[in-house]
Amino acid sequence: MTDSSKTNPKLEFDAESMRRMGYSVVDMIVEHLSALPAKPASSFASREELEAKLREPPPADGSPFEAVLEQVRDDVLANAMWANHPRHFAWVPGPSNFVGAMGDAIASAYNISPTSWLEASGPSQVELVVVDWLRAWCGLPEGAGGIFVSGGSMANLTAIATARRVKLADDARGAVVYCSEQVHSSVVRNLRVLGFTPGQIHEVAVGEDLRISLSALREALRVDRENGLRPFCVIATAGTTNAGAVDPLPALSELCRAEDLWFHVDGAYGAAAVLTESGKRLLRGMERADSLAVDPHKWLFQPFEIGCCLVRDGRWLAETFSERPEYLQDTWVGRDAEQEINFGEHGVQLTRGFRALKLWMTVKVFGERSLRAAVQRGIDNAEAMEAYLLELGCFEIITPAQLGVLTFRYRAPGYDLDESNALTRAIYDANRRRGFSMLTTTIIRDMQVLRICAINPRVEDAQLRRSLEILAEIGEALCAQPGDPRLERSS
Ligand SMILES: Cc1ncc(COP(=O)(O)O)c(C=O)c1O
Repeated sequence: MTDSSKTNPKLEFDAESMRRMGYSVVDMIVEHLSALPAKPASSFASREELEAKLREPPPADGSPFEAVLEQVRDDVLANAMWANHPRHFAWVPGPSNFVGAMGDAIASAYNISPTSWLEASGPSQVELVVVDWLRAWCGLPEGAGGIFVSGGSMANLTAIATARRVKLADDARGAVVYCSEQVHSSVVRNLRVLGFTPGQIHEVAVGEDLRISLSALREALRVDRENGLRPFCVIATAGTTNAGAVDPLPALSELCRAEDLWFHVDGAYGAAAVLTESGKRLLRGMERADSLAVDPHKWLFQPFEIGCCLVRDGRWLAETFSERPEYLQDTWVGRDAEQEINFGEHGVQLTRGFRALKLWMTVKVFGERSLRAAVQRGIDNAEAMEAYLLELGCFEIITPAQLGVLTFRYRAPGYDLDESNALTRAIYDANRRRGFSMLTTTIIRDMQVLRICAINPRVEDAQLRRSLEILAEIGEALCAQPGDPRLERSS
């Protein structure tokens, strides 16, 4: 046991103790990951239970590492959904991978901040290289650049701040941003945080296919210009969170060019599909973006947190974010500004984690070919699930499998919309409590629907099928209940 009973003002252990602690952590992780498919896909405890387990004042004296680790495993980590569980189909899963997790462990232990070249030349070079891999995959030209941030939300925020700087010299009075009604909520929040008022955020209608209506967008631009407003940016989504829909990127890029508008693409989860042939076709036009959000902690299998903001001209980031206080002058004075990238001047964060490492190590260890196959597997999973649902015969597909996402609902003849919506929610709830798979609901065209995002490459076909059979069994049992079908479905 590691002895922490005495005061340890250096907060350190000898090499042998560190080794033992490290090995026990690795053992715990490997045990967890190996057993994952056999575990429930969702686990959760009430606030009351967790208060009882975890509430305490900061302990004055230390405890053995092993005892703390046990509590972490049993009281903390056991009460959570694991986004890398093979049957976690909820929201956008984080399938992650072990190499990426080890990369994070190294980045954390070495505690390097790629803020400036002076501090972190090697890590900064790795970030340059990995950003450039993403740039090339997404088809942006050489000379484009980017930065790793915490996730898709921050990637979108970084992009919009850059757009405002480059296009409007930061004067956003009367400026309007256009996106579809299906835009991710992070975009709306970011615009608000950046000071845009509701009147400056134009959410344009979508068609039946849930893609932005070009005619409605053109009309909105015309009317806003007539009213003296200043349209300045269109935000397209390449893979909507609800349905995996891709806005008409080629047409939008043309429109943006013709109307002198910034073209941002939120490809937070969908852009990774560019690694596959069908994804590349679907995402055509993404390469014309002025800025692009990509989220490696989603479909590029990285542990949370890593998102990437790519911009068409690598110089735009420094133009937008650089601040040079005197206490940091050694990071640029007398240094080669052309050659030495200071990522701390390229985004909102100064001190920042070495996020690029996990993605770099993942690509190096598995290779691009395996990564492509893993992304393809997510597309195939959703298509296979759509086919199983049709085979089962008791489900209606609401939006077909696209970019790994699928929405559907249980067919309940004679149910009106309210009843059918209640049934969907009841099926979701019963399935969550059953725990074999975890999926979520959303609303498509006023309908409550079940939604699956199947991008984990480690799920077996038999598990996909069983997950859907269970939904069918739940649906059947709920519909067979006597009495009002809208009441107490989840009991
Ligand atoms: C299309 C899209 N944009 C942005 C985000 C936000 O990403 P994050 O949760 O990493 O901040 C998501 C998350 O699912 C998303 O699907």
